[in-house]
Amino acid sequence: MSITVERLLTAAVPLIELALAEDIGPGDATSQSTLDAAAPLHGRIVAKAPGVIAGLPVAEAVFHTVDPALIFTAHVCDGQEVVTGELVAEVNGPGPSLLAAERTALNFLQRMSGIATATRDFVDAVATTRAIILDTRKTLPGYRVLDKYAVSMGGAQNHRMALFDMLMVKDNHTDGAGGITAAVVRARTVHPTLPVEVEVRTLAELQEALAITPPLDRIMLDNMDLETMRQAVSLTAGRVPLEASGNVTLKTVAAIAGTGVDFISTGAITHSVIALDLSMKIAKPTAAPTLSWEERARRAKATLSDRLVILGHHYQRDDVIQFADFRGDSLQLARDAVRTNAEHIVFCGVFFMAEVAAILAKPGQHVYIPDSAAGCYLAETAGRTQVEQAWLHLDAALRGAALGGAAEDEITPITYVNSDAALKAFCGKHGGGICTSGNAAKVLTWAFAQRPRVFFFPDQHLGRNTALALGIPAEEILLWTPYRPPSAEAIRRAKVVLWPGACNVHQRFHPTDVTAVRARHPGIRVVVHPECDRSVVELADSAGSTTHIIKEIETAPAGSAWAVGTETRLVLRLQQEHPEQLIVPLAERPPYCPGMGTITLRNLAETLEALAHGEFPQQVTVEAETARWARVALERMLEL
Ligand code: 13P
Ligand code: SF4
Repeated sequence: MSITVERLLTAAVPLIELALAEDIGPGDATSQSTLDAAAPLHGRIVAKAPGVIAGLPVAEAVFHTVDPALIFTAHVCDGQEVVTGELVAEVNGPGPSLLAAERTALNFLQRMSGIATATRDFVDAVATTRAIILDTRKTLPGYRVLDKYAVSMGGAQNHRMALFDMLMVKDNHTDGAGGITAAVVRARTVHPTLPVEVEVRTLAELQEALAITPPLDRIMLDNMDLETMRQAVSLTAGRVPLEASGNVTLKTVAAIAGTGVDFISTGAITHSVIALDLSMKIAKPTAAPTLSWEERARRAKATLSDRLVILGHHYQRDDVIQFADFRGDSLQLARDAVRTNAEHIVFCGVFFMAEVAAILAKPGQHVYIPDSAAGCYLAETAGRTQVEQAWLHLDAALRGAALGGAAEDEITPITYVNSDAALKAFCGKHGGGICTSGNAAKVLTWAFAQRPRVFFFPDQHLGRNTALALGIPAEEILLWTPYRPPSAEAIRRAKVVLWPGACNVHQRFHPTDVTAVRARHPGIRVVVHPECDRSVVELADSAGSTTHIIKEIETAPAGSAWAVGTETRLVLRLQQEHPEQLIVPLAERPPYCPGMGTITLRNLAETLEALAHGEFPQQVTVEAETARWARVALERMLEL
């Protein structure tokens, strides 16, 4: 059960009072003496570093506690990533109150956002695996609820709240009670309804814990090395969920997740908090009103007129997408890129999408991205060298088989469009193709008409969901493991080999989100993107690309209710555009795509202004040979 805002505020109120008494005491001497009590001021809370925001309701409560006349307006939500310079919130009201509350409000917001940011790093580090990050009780004394709320905003799950809501039999209890089984029996006798977790130090202790009936709710592998953890996972064979714990750092967490454990708990996210750098500045009244970024973008766009086309993906911010001449999903935007004759194509999306436009651009057309750091986590899970090594391995395995050929004859490489241009070129060269989430089934069907097998990268979930939907049995779908490649025999048995990549945004949806939203809204229909894990897709009513999701909602009768499992900016826009329907994000803590959020109104306006001045900002180019082969694969896709 996640921590609600009501619960957060109940826990925060005494802490706010304590903090204000500490900081303001009898009064803010400077503000009271230098400022006119009645003169209103306008404060802007801005991010000075990228991170994940958490604690906005607490910051608002601080301002209101100091002076109910202060009006707090949040510009982002808790759980949302911000970029450097992004406006997080504004506060308006009496100047002395605003400045008296500032430090305390920022202290809460910065600390909580620091926890959420560190948590998100851990969550992202394991996003290609099934492991779930958990917190611990290593929180600031008195701040347990606030710290754990911030953890959940970072995308991790909360472990037990305290000593009273779960039985956790640790080494000291085991030693004191005379063994694991004895300790569990005694604990269960006194607290029969509480869930039980047992900490084990060795495989022998694990065997003992596994033999307990009814089965334990979870077993914690304490401080085991990676090999022992792997053995523990195989010994347990899914009978009881396993949690890895002890010395988990950002450097080690991915390898721990790779052992196959279900949960990884880490104290690092709360015990050594680095506050997110946020500041509040008072907006100065200016003599001459300056143009807003919106107006500047509008003027530059008008100057460029039909020499310019702006393409925008549905996951873009509202203030950016309003400038798009073409708005679409990745397939639609690739088609639009081919159609336009404009000299300048400004791509508001992630880098690989702009690369696709650059590859398809006609001579004389140039593609720009407002921020070249707008990356796609999923695309970065497959590097060219790693994929080429896998291909050689597949080649050796298939050549060795009495199948009459090598990889080239036996297996078609298909890359999801969310990939580096070099991988698209690889597919072009090796007779393969490219798909988007909107045409994956069509492209896989085409691929099977070429050769009996498919090597699909980088998104394992899209690959698996599409293959299963085409009727390929699960036993014939093989997950590639770069560090321990599957045996030649396993490769020969497979019809689909999946790269183990995943999207860190869609990976944050869990089956429990589906059950929870159905409980909150009986009868609601659940529609998800196929980048979600199979377990989520199976519980949903429908799965499909961004366009599929939009169409489902657009064509549904008024009064329908939808829970949507995809990027949150799109879900919130659908909510606004379809007031006749009930539309809610699938998860209570809905994920935003950080790469998409990197494009802002400001960097879009700056790009357009630079173009209008004859400069060429952030141009996206692809090396000629790579572009040639990538185009071969892209054109194959667009012809289907
Ligand atoms: P679409 O193909 O649905 O636009 O998806 C692209 C993407 O990045 C989804 O996360
Ligand atoms: Fe990439 Fe996921 Fe963002 Fe889509 S949502 S662009 S797959 S990181």
